[in-house]
Amino acid sequence: MATPHIGAAAGDFADIVLMPGDPLRARLIAETHLQDAVQVTSVRNVFGYTGSYRGKRLSVMAHGMGIPSASIYATELIKDYGVGTLIRIGSCGSVDASRLGLRDIVIAMGACTDSKVNRLRLLDHDFAAIADFEVLRTAVEVAARLGKPVRVGNVFSTDLFYGVQPQLLAALKGMNVNAVEMEVAGIYGVAAQYGARALAMLTVSDVIPTGEAMDAEARQNSFHDMMEIALETALQ
Ligand code: HPA
Repeated sequence: MATPHIGAAAGDFADIVLMPGDPLRARLIAETHLQDAVQVTSVRNVFGYTGSYRGKRLSVMAHGMGIPSASIYATELIKDYGVGTLIRIGSCGSVDASRLGLRDIVIAMGACTDSKVNRLRLLDHDFAAIADFEVLRTAVEVAARLGKPVRVGNVFSTDLFYGVQPQLLAALKGMNVNAVEMEVAGIYGVAAQYGARALAMLTVSDVIPTGEAMDAEARQNSFHDMMEIALETALQ
């Protein structure tokens, strides 16, 4: 039953899939956090694994970079493999250092975008790309229980990694949009279209106005906090 982009068999994925952008991060998560993880797909080296976390069956699969790539994997996981919940775990750039600094975690309640994908879905009207409320609430409760501060709010999913314009940064800051990344609005649109639940949590890897960026070690440690929140959220 392989799809064009996923080579797994029916039933190979758990009901919940954690989704980093990077296939090697998916592998690392499977190796370090899942018990008895089995690789279920490697088409285009976009790896997916299924194992268990504290006795609960759980999958992790990369979604690549950008809305088109993430949308393809999200769609096939939901529509063809029956996955019910996607949790993106990624990085983002803060648009305002005073609100969101390096290593901070933002949970995307909603996602604005410069992509047209959701307008394609909604007769060219604006679609409010939002997280699933239950998964969002669980994640916020889990973060509080673990004593890990998170910001909950809007993010902006851009098609341009390079060349975000200063006027856009100012506008985002002015509209209380916290961070820029490249996939959430697409994943939330796919989840709405195919009837699944989706949530994204993001660690700030760089602060766009100041040019600050995390070094490799900081990246690793801060992602660990987000991973804990994501894994415990998946358990609920
Ligand atoms: N822009 C887009 N995506 C990102 C960024 C950014 O600055 N940082 C991490 N992901």
